[in-house]
Amino acid sequence: MSTDPVDPGVSAPTGNHSATRAITAGRRGSGRSLAPPIWASSTWSSTGLDDTHQRATAMRDTEFYSRYGNPTVAAFEDAIADLEGAEAALAFASGMGAVAATVLALCSSGDHIVAQRDLYGGTLAFLDNTARRLGIETTYIDATVPDAFSDAVRPGRTTLVMAETPSNPLLGIIDLDRLGAIRGPFTMVDSTFATPLGQNPLAHGVDLVLHSATKGIAGHNDATLGVIAGEAELIDTIWASAVLHGAVASPYDALNGLRGIRSLNARLAHQTAAAQIIAEALEAHRSITAVHYPGLMSHPGHELAAAQMRHFGTVLSCRVAGGRDLVAAIFERLELCRPATSLGGPETLVTHPATSANVAMDPAQRDAVGITEDLVRISVGLEDPADIIADLIGALNAAQEK
Ligand SMILES: Cc1ncc(COP(=O)(O)O)c(C=O)c1O
Repeated sequence: MSTDPVDPGVSAPTGNHSATRAITAGRRGSGRSLAPPIWASSTWSSTGLDDTHQRATAMRDTEFYSRYGNPTVAAFEDAIADLEGAEAALAFASGMGAVAATVLALCSSGDHIVAQRDLYGGTLAFLDNTARRLGIETTYIDATVPDAFSDAVRPGRTTLVMAETPSNPLLGIIDLDRLGAIRGPFTMVDSTFATPLGQNPLAHGVDLVLHSATKGIAGHNDATLGVIAGEAELIDTIWASAVLHGAVASPYDALNGLRGIRSLNARLAHQTAAAQIIAEALEAHRSITAVHYPGLMSHPGHELAAAQMRHFGTVLSCRVAGGRDLVAAIFERLELCRPATSLGGPETLVTHPATSANVAMDPAQRDAVGITEDLVRISVGLEDPADIIADLIGALNAAQEK
């Protein structure tokens, strides 16, 4: 643990608003430096065998060996814990590192998981392959049915309930209060689309919140990073298992995560407002058969999202009349928006989930959850929304005329 005091001039008063805490949080070890220092070291020298023994057996020591803990990574974890209202957070090499470490720490052979059917494609692939191979069974539920999660819990066998809200790529909204009321298994929410400034699942009684910080948190498409937050004892348990899997966060990525947190509120203000404008413009176009965005009145989860989220998010998806061929033709004609997998960065990205994040799914399984060939996901960036709309609609109209 670093003994470097936090400069009181920098950190106090902290303020209660999350936008303010995004600026003051995670200053551990920064001293008077406003930018976080980077501790690139993989190891620390010891003053003797007793010191080595103490650090090697301590929980999450940040000055022993970087797989166990690192001061820059710890500062990022502090910031996430602060913003999520958690006792502790733990960072990983990616969002999938966080998913895998959590499942492997909390579930053993013979255990049972309840998961919503429309989780992120990588999480589904992990449950259907690695977890299944290890004898961990998953029951998938339709998260639009009230109490579907709790009804599927098998007392004594279910160890983990996994949800994602808003969900990727269909922007489904889960009732966090209902999820948090489940007793017995641990409950976990992938809150990547909301970011810690958009909602706080732990405040609803959920045990763990997870983020792919690769996305909005780091926010510049230059880091691959994951994080979970919850009670300290639970986070320590996951750390004790994860330290042996080794999917630890790099201090360089943690530094980019911290930088992203500082500007997150301002980026979200622009990107969520732009997403709303773009969603409304697409909804009005005759060749768009559906728009999935919780900010739209037409979204079935609109009221729930308005009640439990601070904003409706930076990502939307839509369905294009004309299916895969028209989607391909639109992507070829885009000049500003870029076809790429990821979200939450400064550039507007368009993605065809059926050929990217959800490609590993069986086509029938994809169809069953609504990830069909006509679906396009749009991550709204920091450009002017008028330019994004002109590019999207221009490409759509030109593709139809070909
Ligand atoms: C909702 C969600 N969770 C988890 C992940 C996995 O994160 P990563 O790509 O950082 O491993 C992603 C990636 O797209 C995601 O969208």
